[in-house]
Amino acid sequence: MEQIVERRREPEPVAFSRVIEETQRRVAQEADKAASLPRVLKAADTPFTMGMQAFSKHWIGGAPKDRLSKAPIRTMAISEQIMDPGMRGGRHRHVREAIFYIIEGEGYEIHDGKKYEWSAGDIMTVPSYCDHQHFNPNPRQRARMWYSISPVVEFLGVHWMEQIEMKSGYSIPPDARPVYGPDKRLIGYETPDGQKFNMGVNQTIQQRINSRLENVVHIEKPRDTYQKYVKLLEQEVRWRESVPHVIRNSDASWEDTQMGRIKFMVTPHSNCGLKTYDAFIQEIPPGGASGKHRHMAEEAHKILQGKGYDIHDGVRHDWEAEDMVCIPPYVTHQHFNSDPKHAARFVAYQPRWYTFMGHGGIEHLANAPGYSE
Ligand SMILES: [Fe+2]
Ligand SMILES: [Fe+2]
Repeated sequence: MEQIVERRREPEPVAFSRVIEETQRRVAQEADKAASLPRVLKAADTPFTMGMQAFSKHWIGGAPKDRLSKAPIRTMAISEQIMDPGMRGGRHRHVREAIFYIIEGEGYEIHDGKKYEWSAGDIMTVPSYCDHQHFNPNPRQRARMWYSISPVVEFLGVHWMEQIEMKSGYSIPPDARPVYGPDKRLIGYETPDGQKFNMGVNQTIQQRINSRLENVVHIEKPRDTYQKYVKLLEQEVRWRESVPHVIRNSDASWEDTQMGRIKFMVTPHSNCGLKTYDAFIQEIPPGGASGKHRHMAEEAHKILQGKGYDIHDGVRHDWEAEDMVCIPPYVTHQHFNSDPKHAARFVAYQPRWYTFMGHGGIEHLANAPGYSE
């Protein structure tokens, strides 16, 4: 008996948790990595490649392997797409919503069977789960768009992407073996290392989408908290059915703000098919500058015209037309136009995920030169 009591007093081996130490180390390493990456990306450094949808230039990839590999942007995969004259893009669907700024050209979309027209200067939106395809019916003019999808969605456990139809003129990779269905139509391909790729609709995903539509219950006034959640499904489904998918440039107006001349295209108050992005176009007058500010959300710009530079936390980063500028979280920034004769213009995307966490808003630090109330 005495021996057992003694044994209980023996010290137990203690396993130490290293969660906080590991988190601190990982975050510090990521910060160092992000700090080593360029703030300005040049168009010539990323070639256009042929994919199933269009010719695309993937400025910042969206796969886990692409994270902080080229630019200090984490919540936005950013690409550019060319639609040749007369081209039909790939038809597909993904859970990630997508935002497109039309740089040049004109065309239309078919989204879940509905047609939406767009032209240069517009923002075109693809809501989550929307079956979409771009068309450039113009026989002489190409269309080009700058677009983003969010890698954050891959962490949510609901991501999927289906290819329903390839773009016009698409051919499978030269080393792949085509796979045909019973009706002799191409339904996929297999690469020499055994990777199989299947085209077509995933029935599990399709059933999930159908089920959400079929199980909508109309509740006029929720009786309790649970019913508020049931009503949310109905609100989301109705929102999807009625929301505009294109924000026309001509419908948005310029505002002379403390940050400078800005045309807000997508904001939390806009009626449009996006929930996780904000977007605006900004113009810097010849020889002029924007205001100076700072926010938690990262931000990416595509320079549409002109040349100039940004000051990020006191460091100068030069840019010119066609470049992409990356502003990491919580960096104080101000934009300058170095051309004394011509205005500079850029389009900006900002993810709204930060706002959902209570890290939205702007610390305004200095007015744009010439701003008056
Ligand atoms: Fe897409
Ligand atoms: Fe900003």
